Amino acid sequence: MSLLAKVFSHKKKHLVGHHLVLNELKIPKHLAIIMDGNGRWAKQRHMPRVAGHKQGMETVKTVTKLASSAGVSVLTLYAFSTENWSRPKDEVSFLMKLPVTFFDTFVPELIEQNVRVETIGAIDALPEATKQAVYDAKEKTSQNTGMVLNFALNYGGQKEIVDAAAILAQKVQGGDMAVEDINPATFAAALTTGFLGDLADPDLIIRTSGEERLSNFLPYQAAYSEFYFTPVLWPDFDQEQFELALESFTKRDRRFGKVNS
Ligand code: FPP
Repeated sequence: MSLLAKVFSHKKKHLVGHHLVLNELKIPKHLAIIMDGNGRWAKQRHMPRVAGHKQGMETVKTVTKLASSAGVSVLTLYAFSTENWSRPKDEVSFLMKLPVTFFDTFVPELIEQNVRVETIGAIDALPEATKQAVYDAKEKTSQNTGMVLNFALNYGGQKEIVDAAAILAQKVQGGDMAVEDINPATFAAALTTGFLGDLADPDLIIRTSGEERLSNFLPYQAAYSEFYFTPVLWPDFDQEQFELALESFTKRDRRFGKVNS
């Protein structure tokens, strides 16, 4: 029996509040993923880069279902960074169409799974059709109470931090806030992940394709995140790979700067 199957059967029996240690696997409350390696996956197959992104979108569907069934509360996926605009025009245009295709075909399943779509990043600066697809998906899933599927779209972490500083500065300047009230809690609330409350910080960040860096993804929120790097390319990231990542997370000793008794 696979590890996740064990988790699922255990959950059925006990209906334990999710994201606790369920026998074999510890489930991260907030799982964040840097989905890397689509281009290389396509190249290996002598296909155009966009074929890798298309297959990567299928992996998004698979991983969304796996994470939701496993009891993950927030799944944040790095779909498009503010730096990705400098890719070839055709690739950018394909990447902008992906959310449209994705939501067109997948929203009914998301509703069935009780998943709520959210985003972080500058959505308003996206092409009209992309923006509309995102807004529609958010609207149609807004009543869902299960996992939050949070897409980082046109997202850049340093800009997010700078923007939060400006929001707080403006409040101080307007007399709505005292300088002494700027602290980690008020700062976190001013970030784009503020709506996630105490789930804003990822417990586990996965990056596929062998690269081992953050690439401007949630730099503030990642202060105490565990990292899992795998050489597997994103389109090849399947249930087995997902389980391996959770298995690795299960073994981590998270101390948050303290000493374990
Ligand atoms: C990185 O691979 C991937 C991206 C920049 C895009 C990620 C997008 C998806 C996986 C599909 C998103 C789906 C939805 C629903 C929005 P890369 O192109 O950098 O790969 P490479 O490093 O091998 O070139």
